[in-house]
Amino acid sequence: MKKIVVLGSINVDIILNIARLPLPGETMAMHDRSTAGGGKGANQAIAAVRAGAETSFIAKIGQDRSADFMLDTFKYDGLNIDHVTQDDKAGTGQAYILLDDNGQNSILIYGGANQTITTEDIQNASEAIANADCMITEFETPIAASIEAFKIAKANNVLTILNPAPAKTDIPEELLKLTDIIVPNETEAEAITGIKVTDEASMVAAANKLHSMGVKNVIITVGANGSFYSVDEKTGFVNAYKVNTVDTTAAGDTFIGYLASKLNPDLDNIEEAMKFASKASSITVQTKGAQNSIPHVRDVEI
Ligand code: RIB
Ligand code: NA
Repeated sequence: MKKIVVLGSINVDIILNIARLPLPGETMAMHDRSTAGGGKGANQAIAAVRAGAETSFIAKIGQDRSADFMLDTFKYDGLNIDHVTQDDKAGTGQAYILLDDNGQNSILIYGGANQTITTEDIQNASEAIANADCMITEFETPIAASIEAFKIAKANNVLTILNPAPAKTDIPEELLKLTDIIVPNETEAEAITGIKVTDEASMVAAANKLHSMGVKNVIITVGANGSFYSVDEKTGFVNAYKVNTVDTTAAGDTFIGYLASKLNPDLDNIEEAMKFASKASSITVQTKGAQNSIPHVRDVEI
């Protein structure tokens, strides 16, 4: 069984269904409102554990009712939460997801406890990192913690996967050099490289820019269009499954968790792992919400 460790965020997602964004000064009724477990890190960890990997999660949560709700979900899924600690001041992270009638979403994040993770918290989890096959991180927790985690991972020959989300323009070179595989979507790839990703030629150009910045391997996800890879000096494209999309929240996170659970350490099955990941995320987009829509492996295997 593959061992995966994820460092990242926990959010309670508050999904607001609206016709369109309100104008300044306007008061508007919404169609509907619901709550779901979310946060990029938690979604990725849940995807990995549902994919069948032994998964350990490093995160910080508040001491509130949201925390109880989230911790219960993690336990139910069999996620190892020995390194999920509770902050006594900051609240559990929240994401307000505004979903309009065109399927566009805008997200407002309250970082809360996610922003209180320190390098010391990472050192406390160093054994879990050292014993893993693969380590994943993203950008909803402090970057200093990600660097510390990847340092420990690389010192112990652990494969490192960076999901540079939410989009960021100034990623420290140190983190890129510690990254074995970077997995941005088209927006994040453009934020980092300055290259607008529209077709295969621009994907190759963005990947080459990332290689020149010190990242060995690149996967760019382009939603319903599929995903591109530049791994081990080979490039290729994997088509997405055609499905009826209801809500894309956590699609990228599902892709990452499933990818990590399937990928061999020498990356020789990259296309197979990407197809598996893409099948899983095609299921996630068919239901509203984040963690509740992430499939179990029995529903992904063909
Ligand atoms: O990637 C999706 C996640 O991003 C949501 O669950 C929300 O919490 C935001 O952090
Ligand atoms: Na979803």
